[in-house]
Amino acid sequence: MELKNVKAIVTGAASGMGFHFAKRIAEAGGQVCAGDVNEAGLAEHGPSVHRRKLDVSSSADVTAFTKWAAEQMGGLNVVISNAGILRDGLLVKRDKETGEIKVMSDDQFNAVINVNLTGATIVVREAVAEMARRKEKGVVIPMSSVARHGNRGQSNYVSAKAALAANAVTWAKEFGVFGIRAVAIAPGMVETPMTQGMNQKARDMLVEKIPVGRIGTTEDLWLGIKFVIECEYLNGTTIDIDGGAKL
Ligand SMILES: NC(=O)c1ccc[n+]([C@@H]2O[C@H](COP(=O)([O-])OP(=O)(O)OC[C@H]3O[C@@H](n4cnc5c(N)ncnc54)[C@H](O)[C@@H]3O)[C@@H](O)[C@H]2O)c1
Repeated sequence: MELKNVKAIVTGAASGMGFHFAKRIAEAGGQVCAGDVNEAGLAEHGPSVHRRKLDVSSSADVTAFTKWAAEQMGGLNVVISNAGILRDGLLVKRDKETGEIKVMSDDQFNAVINVNLTGATIVVREAVAEMARRKEKGVVIPMSSVARHGNRGQSNYVSAKAALAANAVTWAKEFGVFGIRAVAIAPGMVETPMTQGMNQKARDMLVEKIPVGRIGTTEDLWLGIKFVIECEYLNGTTIDIDGGAKL
């Protein structure tokens, strides 16, 4: 698909990668609808980006957003299911001061699952349903992570990101009948508000281990998204864009 023909939904488009992807699609002459819980961040987009508040953890919100987006753009053919959060912590740990054994709370686990897994999946479900009703072909792009292979302190996040990568295979098999592809993108460490919130020492240690010698940029990830959109034979896989870093 040529970028000028893109009619895309981008979730989590108020900051970081989502913001950059929406901006780049609009600059390339495509149409884009940006959704996020952060309305102030959405307002930073130029007028060529359609925007609307969206909470991906509410299926009613996702359904309304999808219908609105398809109407705004006169169709829909690209879905970047990118909204995500972190609530890191050990699943079970010994408290350093009291020696007591503590566990990750249900709330901490479920908060991440609700946004990064259930929310991200509902976005794909509603968008593909709308595309199928409209008989539009295209591609869905869930954002996975290098963490999908397992990472200490991220049971909740890993559960979601591993499932999205696995479901790129599931969805390629299920959506082929509609002419819709599914390709997940798995970033390594990328310079965005998500990683800017990390402990500086931990961040520096991780960056040191990246073979290309630097943290990723949102533009590095955009080059991957662009490839997924343009290469119509790419399907049912996850592309790692991580500078060679492995957790
Ligand atoms: N930055 C990294 O190093 C990195 C690495 C691997 C994967 N990822 C993944 O890439 C995606 C984008 O990450 P980022 O680094 O740009 O993060 P970010 O924090 O800059 O952006 C995430 C956006 O998602 C939005 N969001 C959160 N909850 C939402 C909800 N319920 N509904 C709608 N929007 C919601 C936030 O408001 C924010 O604008 C995420 O899925 C993240 O897990 C990031």
